[in-house]
Amino acid sequence: MITLSKKHILLGISGSIAIYKIFELVRFLRKKQAIVKIVMTRASKKLVSKLSLQILSNHKVFDDILYVNNGSMIHIKLAKWADLILLAPATANIIAKIALGLADDLLSTICLATTAKIIIVPSMNNYMYRANVTQHNIQILRNRGILIWGPNFGEQICGDVGFGSMLSINLIMKKLKQYFSTPLKSLNIMITAGPTHELIDPVRFISNYSSGKMGFSIAYAASLVGANVTLISGPVSLVTPPGNIKRINVISALEMHQVVMDNINNQDIFIGCAAVSDYRITNFSSNKIAKKDHLIINLVKNPDIISEVSKLTKNRPYVVGFSAETNLLKKHARKKLIEKKLDLICANNVSKNRLNSISNDYNELYLIWNGGEMFLPLKKKQVLAKQLMKQIIIRYEKDNKC
Ligand code: PMT
Repeated sequence: MITLSKKHILLGISGSIAIYKIFELVRFLRKKQAIVKIVMTRASKKLVSKLSLQILSNHKVFDDILYVNNGSMIHIKLAKWADLILLAPATANIIAKIALGLADDLLSTICLATTAKIIIVPSMNNYMYRANVTQHNIQILRNRGILIWGPNFGEQICGDVGFGSMLSINLIMKKLKQYFSTPLKSLNIMITAGPTHELIDPVRFISNYSSGKMGFSIAYAASLVGANVTLISGPVSLVTPPGNIKRINVISALEMHQVVMDNINNQDIFIGCAAVSDYRITNFSSNKIAKKDHLIINLVKNPDIISEVSKLTKNRPYVVGFSAETNLLKKHARKKLIEKKLDLICANNVSKNRLNSISNDYNELYLIWNGGEMFLPLKKKQVLAKQLMKQIIIRYEKDNKC
């Protein structure tokens, strides 16, 4: 089925260097019989010619907010015409304008006036993308139901490496076809990541070496398969990966437990990647404890979050645990799989002398489930997480007979 046929796509182009890829996107859209009208910002016209896009799209290219067509204002006409507004490439500037509701040029005004779905495909330098204000703006747009596709991780034209590059045209086309085809139910996936801090006094705590890298990579992989991701993170210094990811920060195991249980109701899959502190301090001092020869700290067990999720009788999600071990890796993981009543467990070796696993960029995993196992060899956590997500979805679909 040609899902894009006769669809009215309003392509909003802003001034990113990735603009050179847009010619191909227009061509592909038209090959699929989509009707493409283009709106350009002032900066984008400095990078490519309006005429080329006019020829490629077979329509007038718009850029003037005061243009009147057959007596109607063009921003209202285009806002109503569009089935979909695709902003690609979208700069930090156009993202900020839409987040603020500014209407000082044709493109931002159309976005304010439309009831059509807006999809943003960011493209910018990775520091601009990681800037708190850009992240904040993206979150505002997500909360309004605007879809954010990408950006990609990799080497940028300026030589920097990080998140910021525009998605490939092939991937944008694939996502557009998926968007216009009969929608499959998007999975809701909740992931815990990072360590927890258990306070001794206002300046000291007990914790572990978890960096959050594994859990954040899984969140990114989940967003790439189109899931609505809830990422519950302990204290880490990582930027939220791009995609449809709602991040909730917590400090302690008790807080993580509360947030998980408050939000678990509609989740299809729960992945416990956090290194939750098993104990918390019972005699927490609200003042900094003065130095003394002996200090006695009393510990009490924290709730086992993943076990509680597994025990749910109503709307129980598919439950994936992690097992961080230094010896008898598979034996200990199997025990946890059974005791915590998990559907799948991912065992990783966290011995001190290893380069992989906790706090590092690499990992390898043994996946174990009732009746099978699989080894995912050493890889960067971002790559490993994509392979893991694929296996989780295969197992989830088998268990739920999707
Ligand atoms: O963050 P990184 O630096 O990238 O490192 C990743 C990691 C090594 C932390 C991760 O891959 C990992 O193994 N996470 C689980 C670590 C762990 O605490 O394992 P565990 O064997 O103690 O716990 C087993 C399972 O129970 C885990 O899914 C854990 O999230 C969960 N748990 C544990 C205790 C508790 N109170 N509540 C829980 O939900």
